Amino acid sequence: MENMVVVGTQWGDEGKGKVVDLLTAGADMVVRYQGGNNAGHTLVVGGRKFIFHLIPSGILYEDKICLIGNGLVVDPEVLLQEIGRLQDSGVSVGPERLVLSEKAHLIMPYHKAIDAAREAAKGKVKIGTTGRGIGPCYEDKAARIGVRAIDLTEPEVLEEKIRSNLREKNFYLEKFLGAEPLDPQEIVDRYLEMGERLVPYIGDVSSMLYDAARQGKTILFEGAQGTHLDVDHGTYPFVTSSNPVAGTICSGAGIGPNILRHIIGIVKAYTTRVGAGPFVTELEDETGDYIQERGAEFGSTTGRRRRCGWLDLVVVKDSVRINGLTALAITKLDVLTGLEKVKICAEYELDGKCVQVRPASLNAMARCKPVYKEMPGWEEDISGARRLSELPAEARAYLKEIEEITGVPISLVSVGPGREETIVIDELLVS
Ligand code: GDP
Ligand code: IMO
Ligand code: MG
Repeated sequence: MENMVVVGTQWGDEGKGKVVDLLTAGADMVVRYQGGNNAGHTLVVGGRKFIFHLIPSGILYEDKICLIGNGLVVDPEVLLQEIGRLQDSGVSVGPERLVLSEKAHLIMPYHKAIDAAREAAKGKVKIGTTGRGIGPCYEDKAARIGVRAIDLTEPEVLEEKIRSNLREKNFYLEKFLGAEPLDPQEIVDRYLEMGERLVPYIGDVSSMLYDAARQGKTILFEGAQGTHLDVDHGTYPFVTSSNPVAGTICSGAGIGPNILRHIIGIVKAYTTRVGAGPFVTELEDETGDYIQERGAEFGSTTGRRRRCGWLDLVVVKDSVRINGLTALAITKLDVLTGLEKVKICAEYELDGKCVQVRPASLNAMARCKPVYKEMPGWEEDISGARRLSELPAEARAYLKEIEEITGVPISLVSVGPGREETIVIDELLVS
C-alpha cells in the first residue's frame, strides 16, 4: 500500500472510521491531522463496537503506530479516558505506539464553557455544535494565547497561561454570556495532574512522519468531519472551526504534500447532517425516517438524531475538486435496501437555472432545489456481498451512476458496519 488519505466528502459521519480501520492492515502509521473530539469514528470488529474521538482508528492493530498531529485540538481528559478504555478492553496503548504532537492545542474548561454558553445564547439560530469547546480552542490558537501539549512539560508556563487567559475568559463568561466564572487554581491543579500522565505520550510527530516516509513506511491520514463542514469550503457559518480537507495534512501533521499518494473520499450512499445548516436533499418524510432508522443515524459523539436525505452529488463533486480525490469509498449501501426507488441529485435548480457547484451564499443555498435522477431500488439483503457481481443489478447501476457523475472510480463499497462487510474493488488499497 502507498500513502493514503481518508477524507469525508459530505457533512461528516460518512463511515471514515470503518474504512480507516480496514485500510490500516496495509499501513505502518495512522495519523489524525485536524479537529478534535467533535469527531466520533465507529469501528465494529469481531462483533465489538469501538468509538474513537481522538485516537486514530488504526489503534486496534497492535503493531501500528498512531499519531495525533499538531493540527488537532485535544481535550486531555477525553484522551486519557480513551486510552483507559482501550487498556480496559485489553488493547495496549503505550507511548511506544501512540504519540501526541507537542504542538497540538489543548481544549481547556473555559473553551467548553464558552461553547455551551454561546450556543445557549443564540437560541434558534445556533450552529448546533458538539459543545466540546472546539471553536473557542481554535480561536485561541489563532489569537496566539492557546495552551499547547508542550506546556504540560513546563508547569510554570502552563500555570501562567491559564491564569492570564482566565482573567479575560471569566470577564467574557460572566459579563457577556451570563455564565459562571471558573476557578484558575482548580484548572491548574487538574491540568498538572493530567499532564503528568500525558507527558510520556508527547512527541515530535512531524519528525516521526518524515523519518518514516524516508524509510519507506506507509502512512494513512485520517480526516475527521467532512469537506462541507470545512471552515473555508463548507456551508459557513454552519461548519466546524478546522479544515478537514486533504490539503490540511501538510500543516496539520507537519509534512510536505509530495508524500500524499491516494486520496480516498468517503461517500455515504445517501446524505446526513447533524446540527444546523443548509441541506438541499433533506427528506422530512417517511423515506427520511426509513433511512434514519435503517442506518441507525444517531450521532456517535452527541447521540443526536441525524437529518437524512438523498445522495447529493453536487456536494460530493465539490469534494472531488477541493481534495483532489483519486478514488471513492461508498458506505452504507445496505441501508438503501428495500426502497422502491432511489434518487441521486447531480445538480440544483437555482432561480430557474441549473447549477453544478454549491453556491457560497446561504440565501442562494436556501433557494436551491434538487434535480433528481430517479433509479429503481432493490429488495435483496446485500450485507453478505463481497464482490460487485454479488450485488443486484440495480445496486450496481446506482454505483455506476455515482462514478459517471463524479468522474472518480469507486475502489471500495461498504455493505455493513463490520470490518469484513466490505467489497474491495481495488486490491491495491489493502495490500
Ligand atoms: P465517521 O465519523 O465518518 O467515522 O462515521 P460514524 O462512525 O460517525 O458513523 C458511521 C456509522 O455507520 C457507524 O455507526 C458505523 O458503524 C456505521 N457504518 C459504517 N459503514 C457502514 C455500512 O456500510 N453499513 C451500515 N449499515 N453501517 C455502517
Ligand atoms: P466525524 O469526524 C458530523 C458538526 C456539528 C456542528 C458543526 C460544528 O465524526 O465525521 P463543532 O463542535 O465542530 O464546533 O460543531 O460541526 N460536526 C460534525 N458532524 N460528524 C463530525 O465528525 C462532526 N464534527 C463536528 O454537529 O453542526
Ligand atoms: Mg462520526
